[in-house]
Amino acid sequence: MRYPLWMFLVGLVCLSCNPQPKNEGHYDLQIDSLIQEMTTYEKVGQLYQCLGRGHARVGDGEKARDLIELVKAGGVGSILVPGDVHDVAEMQRMAVEESRLGIPLFFNYDVIHGFKTIFPVPLAMSCSWDATLVQRAHEIAAIEAASAGISYNHGPMADVSRDPRWGRVMEGNGEDPHLSSVMTQAAIRGFQGPGLHDSHTIIACVKHFIGYGAVEGGRDYNTVDFGEETLRNIHLPPFLAAIDEGVGSVMTSFNVVGSVPTVAHEPLLREVLRGELGFEGIVISDFGSIGELIKHGYARDATQATLQALQGTVDIEMQSRNYHETIQQLIDAGQLDVAIIDAAVRRILQKKFELGLFENPYRFAAVEQIDSLTLSIPHRAVAKEIAKRSMVLLKNEGLLPISDKIERIAIVGPFANSQDILGRWSAKGDTSEAVTLLAGMQKQFSGAQITWLGVGDFWKNAPLPEKKIKELSESADLVILALGEPKEMSAEAASRATLTIPGNQNRIAEIVEETSTPAVLILFNGRPLTIGWYQENVDAILDVWFPGTEGGNAIAEVLAGEYNPSGKLTMTFPRHVGQVPLYYNHYSTGRPGTSSRYSSKYIDIPNGPLYPFGFGLSYTDFEYSDLKLSKEELMLTGHIEASVTVTNTGNVAGEEIVQLYIRDLVGEIVRPVKELKGFKMVNLKAGESETVTFSIGSELLKYWSPVSHDYIVEPGQFTVMIGTSSAAYLERNFELTD
Ligand code: BGC
Repeated sequence: MRYPLWMFLVGLVCLSCNPQPKNEGHYDLQIDSLIQEMTTYEKVGQLYQCLGRGHARVGDGEKARDLIELVKAGGVGSILVPGDVHDVAEMQRMAVEESRLGIPLFFNYDVIHGFKTIFPVPLAMSCSWDATLVQRAHEIAAIEAASAGISYNHGPMADVSRDPRWGRVMEGNGEDPHLSSVMTQAAIRGFQGPGLHDSHTIIACVKHFIGYGAVEGGRDYNTVDFGEETLRNIHLPPFLAAIDEGVGSVMTSFNVVGSVPTVAHEPLLREVLRGELGFEGIVISDFGSIGELIKHGYARDATQATLQALQGTVDIEMQSRNYHETIQQLIDAGQLDVAIIDAAVRRILQKKFELGLFENPYRFAAVEQIDSLTLSIPHRAVAKEIAKRSMVLLKNEGLLPISDKIERIAIVGPFANSQDILGRWSAKGDTSEAVTLLAGMQKQFSGAQITWLGVGDFWKNAPLPEKKIKELSESADLVILALGEPKEMSAEAASRATLTIPGNQNRIAEIVEETSTPAVLILFNGRPLTIGWYQENVDAILDVWFPGTEGGNAIAEVLAGEYNPSGKLTMTFPRHVGQVPLYYNHYSTGRPGTSSRYSSKYIDIPNGPLYPFGFGLSYTDFEYSDLKLSKEELMLTGHIEASVTVTNTGNVAGEEIVQLYIRDLVGEIVRPVKELKGFKMVNLKAGESETVTFSIGSELLKYWSPVSHDYIVEPGQFTVMIGTSSAAYLERNFELTD
């Protein structure tokens, strides 16, 4: 068993509080009679999501008083960032007791990697490749958020991205559609649990539909330009997986696709999302994006923007008030069929019924229990577990785990004793609850002498206390360089044109390197960074991302070898920003390789990445041997078993993520040089071997072709690759016959 038993028992107790079947039931009669009673104003109210009281950051001039009036008048259906549990309870009381029809409100929040107990950022969690633990983290997030009155989440983010300049890569699962699908489903299972009636669950909203991860130049909100094959083979799969998992809501994105803003993209929303994928839940716009149709130059005015978004079946308008201001007049002028509004209201009320809000509108707001339900010891234990599993060991010249013989450890850099390690989108996470690297090290290495210096600037190349850094380094047996990006450099509106460790931090590393004391880089980051200098010059590198509330403890346990790192990268680390976008599942050019002058290459740096997708070291070594296929021909309806032997050839036990890639050698369109199709974890003692088997059927070979204008599987040759990363594997061929 990989996790302590109690972790599951806590989960089981919570999940059995109110077990409900996954099929949420039908409420057609109740919804019909409510819709019949509703005025147009009240219907429009359900379609409006307003920013909550006390939310000072943005807004369109609404004050708490306006919001209260709106709630009482039935002019709002959901509240984003609602304040604390008492606010929620009071707002809900006003909605159900003082509005004419007493329709309860949704309370929405961005619960991205925890609510009070903060887990590593999603990109980090995806590096665990551990769907069970990711699901558990999101279950905990749902319990904590639900107890604060939140009923409807704005997550998970399923945007596939190949561009680390885009700040929002931190919120997703990296560059691979398959892995992102697995993680997106795990998050949805965590949020929505066995059914929305369960009082510890919240509606999940998969976002951002679609293509947002492909913004040009990595610049947020920017144009997206790709063909339908990229849309369907790369960006769509995690959304499809989310819908299969029963996600309650989908959020549109800020970008354009095919020159049309997605929030008004009728073919993608009405035909693909609702029609082809059969999505029946709520579609919500992103923040203010219906109004942005005017700035895009797609709508003349608010009236047209409203019509376009409604035509695309966007049910809820987030924050801006185009629906509020124009729907009545559009209906009066005969330009809008009220049936469109009724259909949107129906989808919203359906979810309110499924949540059980009509039976108990306060069911989520655990005013009495909130303290015992949040940031509990078991929740923190899961945060530590997943933080350890998310870390990726990028280099180790024998320095790690830190030996008992090391007596003096120096920690230097801005993250040496910083509690600001939660990362962005950390909901109600409190940095004062976060365990710093120093605190974790002091606890774990209580016998060692630990000194530290919290110097370094993220934003400026400011002068450093160079002498002090040098002395600190010289007086230690090992230096921990605690460097990276501040949280403000990733997430929304945090695109970067450079990918270096910012400010004056590289100088800190140079000073330490000049002293020749062995050094390990502990990298705090929300995206892949260009750290070639460190690969050359330090002895070990551990990528810890933004590790969350238990960060310091988790890092210290990994450094001590109490946990043997098992994380693998889910995004390629380029050598240089000029290579971006750089991803493992690219096409072959007509001039691959680099030997000829006229091959597809750079003349100043190698083509390949610094660290490839799927890469991550361990304190032990794994050897792959004996790749076998059960047969060399696969019939369309049959299966091939591909097996490989993995041996732990090192001295300590370790866990390995065994990865399966496939290449379709010749297609009616060109196919990627490899695509991840599966993965399995093996836990091996020193010297132990295990045979890992994957079953390959034609469903794994399917892709969307613009030639056939359909999903197809083509007979022909395929290569199976099984290995430790996208760049190190054994391979064999088979033939698909029909
Ligand atoms: C983001 C969404 C988020 C929303 C509400 C937007 O700016 O793009 O992902 O859910 O704000 O906070």
